[in-house]
Amino acid sequence: MEKIIIALDGHAGCGKSTTAKAVAKELNYVFIDTGAMYRAVTHNFLTNEVDIADINDVNKALSKISLKFVLNPSTGIGEVHVNGQNVEPFIRNMEITSRVSDVAAIKEVRVFCVKEQQTMGKDKGIVMDGRDIGTVVFPNAELKVFMTADVKVRAKRRLKEMESKGVSTSLEDVIADIENRDHIDSTRKESPLKKADDAVVVDTSGLTIEEQVASILKLAKAKIGA
Ligand code: DC
Repeated sequence: MEKIIIALDGHAGCGKSTTAKAVAKELNYVFIDTGAMYRAVTHNFLTNEVDIADINDVNKALSKISLKFVLNPSTGIGEVHVNGQNVEPFIRNMEITSRVSDVAAIKEVRVFCVKEQQTMGKDKGIVMDGRDIGTVVFPNAELKVFMTADVKVRAKRRLKEMESKGVSTSLEDVIADIENRDHIDSTRKESPLKKADDAVVVDTSGLTIEEQVASILKLAKAKIGA
C-alpha cells in the first residue's frame, strides 16, 4: 500500500498530538510531535542560559544540540532526546510552555528543526503534527489537516490534562496562555501558523478524541486507497 505524509497543523491545545498519535498507531505510521522539538530546544536554551536576543549565542547553542526521537517500548511512543538525554519529563511544564513560542519564532531555530523534520519524513509513512507542516516542512504532503477549536474548549481540555499530571493552575491562566501562544504563533514573521490552501479544516470543539481520530483516519484511508 502506498505510504503518505499526513500533516496535522492547527492551534495550540486542539488535541493534535493525541489525534496524530492514534492515527499513526492505526496506520502503523511513525508519529512525530514537532512541538516537542521546539520545547526541547527551549529547555536546552533555558538550562544553558542562552540569550535568545543574541543570534550568535543561539547559533552556538544549536550547533551543540543533537535531537532524536527514541521509542519507549512500554508506551510505543517516541520520546524526544537531546544529546542522549530523555527530556520528555521536563518539556511540558508551564515555564517551557510560556516561553516556547518566543524560541519557535527565531528563524535559525526553525531552520534547524525543519531540516530534522524533513529527514524524519523522507521515507513517508509519517504523521507529523505542528504549525507549519503543511505549509513549510512538507508542502507536498498527500494529506493536510488544519485543526481548530473554540479557545474555552481547548483550555478546559488542557486544564484537565494538567490536573491529571498534578500541575495546579487556573482556567483563566490556561486561556491566557493559549491566546498568547496563538497570537505569537499566528503573527510571527517566520512561518506563521496558517492553514495551507489545500488543507481540510477539522473543528474539534464538539468532537470527542475518538471522533477526531475517526474523521482523520477516513481522510487518510481515502488517500491511501485502503
Ligand atoms: O504543539 P505544542 O503546543 O507542543 O507546540 C509548542 C510551541 O512550538 C508552539 O507554541 C508553537 C511552536 N511550534 C511551531 O512553531 N512549529 C511547529 N511545527 C510546532 C510547534
